Amino acid sequence: MAKITVKANGPYLVEGVDVVDNEGRPFKTEAGKPVALCRCGQSARKPFCDGTHMKVGFKSEEHA
Ligand code: FES
Repeated sequence: MAKITVKANGPYLVEGVDVVDNEGRPFKTEAGKPVALCRCGQSARKPFCDGTHMKVGFKSEEHA
């Protein structure tokens, strides 16, 4: 089952899915491990988080 966790002031942590580009080619990820997708827009490794959100002071307030 896929699961997306919205991290406070950080990335989307995605589990149980393949991440593919706009032509359907899969990005290389570690099998069975969650991936962190950037939502601050500042990562140098998009679509993945590279930790830059901490340097730029990204803030989020989402709660279910
Ligand atoms: S959310 Fe981590 S670099 Fe954007």
